[in-house]
Amino acid sequence: MQNNKGFGPYNKKVIDHFTNPHNYGVIEDASGVGSVGNPVCGDMMKLYIKVEKKAGKEIITDIKFKTFGCAAAIATSSMITDMAVGMTVEEAKKLTRKDVSNELGGLPPIKEHCSNLAADALHKAISEYENKRNSKP
Ligand code: FES
Repeated sequence: MQNNKGFGPYNKKVIDHFTNPHNYGVIEDASGVGSVGNPVCGDMMKLYIKVEKKAGKEIITDIKFKTFGCAAAIATSSMITDMAVGMTVEEAKKLTRKDVSNELGGLPPIKEHCSNLAADALHKAISEYENKRNSKP
């Protein structure tokens, strides 16, 4: 049911990200990739980051995702890509599940678990990047 705040239990910001996701897709030469599945519902997400060194800092210059999941999972994925792009790797590591749902203006309580996918996938992509970086001679 549509209301002036959004769609059913979702607010307008969530609906905007769900209907027009930002940074949807794949980065072929990604610096790190994070894949996660949600054990509660079986939904899945893959998140790609491109990291470049600028002025001695490791910056996330590009980020894309593919999510096979519900509206909340897609909206949180889209939101976290907006939040993380331009951040240093260290800053992005500090983004939490709660930060993402707060930035979206909140999710219905029954959908809070969906925001886990986005933050977990980002953290996994970063740790894959760091493992590759650390194993370089
Ligand atoms: S119901 Fe599966 S991530 Fe939302």
